[in-house]
Amino acid sequence: MKTNKDIFVAQLLDLVNNKELVKFTLTSPKDKTSDLKKVIVSAVELKKAYVLNFVYRHTTKDITKNYEINEGIQLINLAIEQDFNNAEIISINEILNLYTLPNGKIQIKTSKTKLNLPLTFSHDKPKDKLIALDNNIYLRELGVTNANFELRMDMSDKYRQINKYIELLAPNLKDLNLTADFHIADMGSGKAYLTFALYDYMTNELKLSPKMTGIEFREDLVNISNNIAKKANFTALNFVKGTIADAQLEKIDVLIALHACDTATDEAIFRGIKSDASLIVCAPCCHKQIRKAMNVSNELSNITKFGILKERQAEIITDSIRAMIMEYFGYKTKVFEFISMEHTPKNLMIVGKKSSKSIADKEKILANILAIKKLYGIDKHYLETLMEI
Ligand SMILES: C[S@@+](CC[C@H](N)C(=O)[O-])C[C@H]1O[C@@H](n2cnc3c(N)ncnc32)[C@H](O)[C@@H]1O
Repeated sequence: MKTNKDIFVAQLLDLVNNKELVKFTLTSPKDKTSDLKKVIVSAVELKKAYVLNFVYRHTTKDITKNYEINEGIQLINLAIEQDFNNAEIISINEILNLYTLPNGKIQIKTSKTKLNLPLTFSHDKPKDKLIALDNNIYLRELGVTNANFELRMDMSDKYRQINKYIELLAPNLKDLNLTADFHIADMGSGKAYLTFALYDYMTNELKLSPKMTGIEFREDLVNISNNIAKKANFTALNFVKGTIADAQLEKIDVLIALHACDTATDEAIFRGIKSDASLIVCAPCCHKQIRKAMNVSNELSNITKFGILKERQAEIITDSIRAMIMEYFGYKTKVFEFISMEHTPKNLMIVGKKSSKSIADKEKILANILAIKKLYGIDKHYLETLMEI
């Protein structure tokens, strides 16, 4: 007669064969002193074989191994008997939990999967992406992939965001005809997912030789990023501890500021304009300055009396005036959503390209900014203060 464990393992095999397994985990070691705390298994399609990828999670290290399907299932069978009390199968539709009770009996519970995760079994699938996974050292170091360069389930949104960002930036960068050495500054580089991807794309795809600097005031992030740059052999990418406003920088040709908080975005745009950058790209974050500065005393107060609507108005006004100021200083400017709202609500991008043509009507732009400010009872936009206009 089949035991609960046999049924559970057979179900696991079916899910693997049908390519419906999201993740399998073994937890609660029978030997409490064991250094091996957990085993995480996923099904992965390599170039030549469909295998089970085991991550053995020890106290201080992960060891990764691939097994042929039947061999892997046998190992799991043994591990449930000898090494672990609990196991969990997460499939597209169901979660199955196996518990070994103190009397040795095995109990199985089933529930509906609440996760709505994309399945990435195949190594080949993300190949059409601009940023490839294979042998990608910085994506591995940043935890986007595991030690085998396979995309981690919980990082699929981040990977999508990275690719979308490069996809959007690529035509703008190609248009610039930056052939000689040039300098890209990434203001508020944070964990630098996008900084690394941009450097990778510029050097390895476009075969350009930019110098790139990430400015970040968190020293820990600067150190981690510099270590990753070294491992990836990104010799002209450097991270510097400093503030967007004050960091010492050479001439900036491309200015990037993604999700720099509140007026830090204005400081970044200011530095880009002052440096006569050919391209300014920013994805604004919070918009506190204008929200506080708004003092509406006309019909629009019927909108701004609702907190969330005031916040949205503040976002629109802040970024519109930023775009208008960039136009005033000769940047052909576009504002658009760069990734769908479901991935990040901070999805607005402002891209300004320095135009060789003179601006049609600077006075008109100033008059329009003034009219918008008057409507919302705003004294000054922070970027105006910085630019002294
Ligand atoms: C939300 S994170 C975004 C990181 C990265 N640009 C991205 O989009 O993935 C913002 C980063 O900017 C840094 N930051 C914010 N204001 C800054 C400033 N004035 N000077 C330097 N770094 C700043 C923060 O420490 C944080 O790491």
